[in-house]
Amino acid sequence: MEQRKGRRLVLLPLPFQGHINPMLQLANIIHSKGFSITVIHTTFNYPNSSLYPHLTFCPIKEHLSESEASISDVVSLLVHLNIRCSDPFRDCLSGLLSDAYEEEPVACLISDAGFFFTQGVANGLGLPRFILRTGGACSFVVFAAFPILKDKGYLPLQESKLEELVVEFPPLKVKDLPVFDTKKPEKFYQLVDRIVNETKASSGIIWNTFQELEESQEPRSVVYVSFGSIAAISEANFLEIAWGPANSKHPFLWVVRSGFVRGNKWLEKLPDRFLEDLNGRGHIVKWAPQLEVLTHPAVAVFWTHSGWNSTLESIYEGVPMMCTPCSGDQKVNARYVSDVWGVGVQVENGLDREKIGRSIRRLMVEKEGDEIRNRILSLKEKASLCLSNSGSSFQCLDQLVSHILSVES
Ligand code: UDX
Repeated sequence: MEQRKGRRLVLLPLPFQGHINPMLQLANIIHSKGFSITVIHTTFNYPNSSLYPHLTFCPIKEHLSESEASISDVVSLLVHLNIRCSDPFRDCLSGLLSDAYEEEPVACLISDAGFFFTQGVANGLGLPRFILRTGGACSFVVFAAFPILKDKGYLPLQESKLEELVVEFPPLKVKDLPVFDTKKPEKFYQLVDRIVNETKASSGIIWNTFQELEESQEPRSVVYVSFGSIAAISEANFLEIAWGPANSKHPFLWVVRSGFVRGNKWLEKLPDRFLEDLNGRGHIVKWAPQLEVLTHPAVAVFWTHSGWNSTLESIYEGVPMMCTPCSGDQKVNARYVSDVWGVGVQVENGLDREKIGRSIRRLMVEKEGDEIRNRILSLKEKASLCLSNSGSSFQCLDQLVSHILSVES
């Protein structure tokens, strides 16, 4: 048994068996890590506390009416639970906070994601709130994408589209999207919206899954393609850029800004079914959180226009580059990347899909790619060191501050 931590965690399961079980499993696990546990629970569908003598149980009286407690309309039941539990839960939690303050402070609340009202209560009491997402990560990302799925016309479901692929979430078809009451979908969408937003507002999410099961992509397998915020290209080049990674068989994430293809709004020139035929291997977005993308272990190669910020970011994250400079300083940057620092390759003298494919192979498959990766990893280490206390950038910053103060009039 771990040493006791002198801290209490408060847990709130949603009163359905598929939610109570994982919350109590989590309670056991964190209890074994030395925390004391209080489980606040509803009177409706309450857990069997006698099986958990090491945990403290605290019932609240939510007073659901008989019709509100009907499970024939799960969406309404969830909405009612969120309304009816709010006051008694707040009273119970604030009581616990004041009782436990002296000897065993409450470190945080762990709430089921379905109890969205708890974010407001936790904020009001100044207590961090973590979420237990009892369902899979794969379905949560679909719930979180409801606004996009509505915008694109997948939702509400239409009989004639049920067999269509949801291009953003292969291999899901439209008929696989989560629904409850197809006649009154708006109420469900509003509920999902609250749950997702209050989950995002939490201090963190605990997932009831495991990494190897729901990992997005294999480590070091994805080509990230982005040409910065200014570059624009011809239609012909656009198609070569599209077919290069598509033919390479590697998964890719491609940022195509609106206006990136001269004379086009966005993806008009992409062949019909281009993404569908890739079966989820290709993903196109209008903008990506580039730093987060480059930090992700699945990203193997950054195909870049060699803008200076992108170059620095790639070095800082240790991601080998494929360079296609478009204008200005980018050509100089690209030559340094390929020939001086040796941390990338260039796609030179015109774009064609075979050449692009060869460059991807050089970096992803061939020995040259390993050497380039080793060089960029050692440069990444230098980049981190320069920010440490005795590092060169840190010292330069001190000098800059002194200099600014010295020239003050
Ligand atoms: C411009 C010039 O084009 C470039 O030559 C010069 O070196 C800097 O100024 P830009 O073309 O936008 O910059 O490229 P870059 O320097 O790479 O900056 C783009 C920035 O936007 C990066 O910080 C990158 O992280 C960010 N970005 C880009 C995103 O966050 N998401 C994207 O989808 C694309």
